[in-house]
Amino acid sequence: MESRYKSFRYIEQLQSLVGETITLKGWVYNITGKGKLQFVMLRDGTGIAQCVVFKNNVGEEVFDNCKTLTQESSVEITGKVVASEKAPGGYEIDVTNINILSLSNDYPITPKEHGDAFLIEHRHLWLRSSRQMAIMRVRSAVMKAIRDFFDGNGFKLIDSPILTPNACEGTSTLFETEYFDLGKAYLSQSGQLYAEATALALGRVYTFGPAFRAERSKTRKHLTEFWMVEPEMAFFDINDDMDLAEDLVEYIVQYVLKTCQKELATLERDTRPLEKVKRPFYRMSYTEAVEWLVANDIPLIKNIDGVATEIRPFPWGEDFGTVQEEAIMEQFDKPLIIHRYPTDIKAFYMKRDPENPKVVLAMDMLGPEKAGEIIGGSQREDDFDLLLERIKKENLSEEEYKWYLDLRRYGSVTHSGFGLGAERVIKWITGAAHIRETIPFPRMIYRITP
Ligand code: 4AD
Ligand code: MG
Repeated sequence: MESRYKSFRYIEQLQSLVGETITLKGWVYNITGKGKLQFVMLRDGTGIAQCVVFKNNVGEEVFDNCKTLTQESSVEITGKVVASEKAPGGYEIDVTNINILSLSNDYPITPKEHGDAFLIEHRHLWLRSSRQMAIMRVRSAVMKAIRDFFDGNGFKLIDSPILTPNACEGTSTLFETEYFDLGKAYLSQSGQLYAEATALALGRVYTFGPAFRAERSKTRKHLTEFWMVEPEMAFFDINDDMDLAEDLVEYIVQYVLKTCQKELATLERDTRPLEKVKRPFYRMSYTEAVEWLVANDIPLIKNIDGVATEIRPFPWGEDFGTVQEEAIMEQFDKPLIIHRYPTDIKAFYMKRDPENPKVVLAMDMLGPEKAGEIIGGSQREDDFDLLLERIKKENLSEEEYKWYLDLRRYGSVTHSGFGLGAERVIKWITGAAHIRETIPFPRMIYRITP
């Protein structure tokens, strides 16, 4: 016998169900009407459908029940699917019966405007709003595109641990917890070190999971818990790494354009800039980027004794912030990779450029339309002595990184990888105002509920 759930029908299937009488299960998004006619906008997670309730078709009792429906009441609605140019989406339901499952009282999110604080406090309900549903559907497509891209290109998915004994991305942003008798453990900032070990076992791997940063950044681009995909490849140098990063981003954007037109329309996203996201992207070195900043009089902005102070010309060796990144990106309609950053501002594991040890073989990809940094990656230091020197210089424990050093002791090879922040990409593609709208339940320094 076929499973019952296979007979369920959904709003996204209406096009192929014209003429049939079906039952939809969902929630009342909105209800209007007068006299002998009621319009129930029903949502079921796959879309919103107009259900037309005509008193003469359903009878007095069903019609009177229908009038008691409120926003977000749950219902089963039976009726015939008809094509209708007037209906949103092009199809509507000629209702023959309504079964009320649960009436909702005083649903707090009404069609009127609510403040940001109110909405985020009610995130568990806010997710039912059409914009939020559209963003979550794009999120699902982005996650699938990422997995499909790697699975289809010879990569193996490996899962790196969340509880870790040491830091990957600096010791200042670690979430700490007691770990039995073994001292402190930290929530993973990045699966990279484990990805490196598995790349030297399996060749091409990716890890995809949550990453945690106890970062005191109250920006529109920072979460304390975000999802990062991290490919790691044996025998890839920095150029191979950049090529792969471009291929991945092109694939994600084009996949979303192909599969999420309805969602992007709901979000009123102008898709023309996204259509341009095809390889090759742009590339420049950090040094070239600094030259551009200097030539265009873009200063470094430094907090000196609590005062934002502009320093000109932009000094070589300083990291870029939002101001510099957005200024540089204004010239570009596609992502830009900036490579070869100063050694002193980048992580210990990055390989120094053999042609200039002042810089490392690092690369960041910046998105257009103020997307900011969406990818950070590098070729890894594969020389045992140089890596040990960097570990010591950063005051990291040699003992704790012993296993990581082993990777340079036994069959060390050129290898590279990068991390792509899924929410940064979803924010860019959807045009969401704040990164908190791109993850179901955002974690930020000032919020851990709901
Ligand atoms: O540049 P990051 O810190 O690089 C790493 O973690 C490397 N270990 C990755 C690797 O080479 N395997 O982070 C990578 C990306 C950033 O470019 C950004 O997109 C995202 O992760 N990211 C964040 N997203 C949201 N909130 C935050 N607080 C983020 N921090 C980084
Ligand atoms: Mg980075």
